[in-house]
Amino acid sequence: MEELLVLKNISKTFKQKEALKDINIQINAGEILGFLGPSGSGKTTTIKIVTGQLQQTNGEAKILGTDTRKITENIYEQIGIVTDTSGVYEEFSVYDNLLVFAKVLNVSASVIDPLLTKVRLIEQKKQLASKLSKGQRQRLVLARAVMHQPKLLFLDEPTSGLDPTTAAEVHKLLLSLKEQGMGIFLTTHNMEEATKLCDQVA
Ligand SMILES: Nc1ncnc2c1ncn2[C@@H]1O[C@H](COP(=O)(O)OP(=O)(O)OP(=O)(O)O)[C@@H](O)[C@H]1O
Ligand SMILES: [Mg+2]
Repeated sequence: MEELLVLKNISKTFKQKEALKDINIQINAGEILGFLGPSGSGKTTTIKIVTGQLQQTNGEAKILGTDTRKITENIYEQIGIVTDTSGVYEEFSVYDNLLVFAKVLNVSASVIDPLLTKVRLIEQKKQLASKLSKGQRQRLVLARAVMHQPKLLFLDEPTSGLDPTTAAEVHKLLLSLKEQGMGIFLTTHNMEEATKLCDQVA
């Protein structure tokens, strides 16, 4: 089993404030980890550390075998990240938003239409991103994050604020990605979501 993410005793202190203490996690290929905790418990901080946007105070973290303090472009090509700050280009169409990322990620534009069908945005293909509903926007950001078929996907509360039907669609998509061997790190406040999707919870 391929170890995609391994955290050993990760701690993070901001000035005097202890945000994380001794976090131990492992995600293997084809596994979904639910990372649970109330607001302010350090979920986003953990994602930032393991994706190289922040450095831990103590402990060791490896992503795809590489120390998270030494992440290179090659690692970013193999992971996908969706956080609440994942923006879209408002003045671009849905299709063009994905086209920009296809170019950056060196992926053929031919993947875009099937992907839009999968996240049920094919009818909005030519619509401006600024005119999308919240759930549509969330599905666009998710489509963008998996376009290059990453080995490991980080989702920071992917269904918060979505209606039950749209949330169920996102769940279905995540389970199909898992079936293909993707590892998924998912933060959520939703116990039902964690029960339904996750192989392990932390
Ligand atoms: N850059 C920073 N500087 C100082 N303190 C920070 C910083 N980032 C986060 N914190 C603090 O660390 C703690 C954890 O924050 P974090 O954003 O990781 O929580 P969270 O679990 O993602 O919460 P939420 O569910 O509300 O998104 C909070 O007390 C927050 O105020
Ligand atoms: Mg957060």
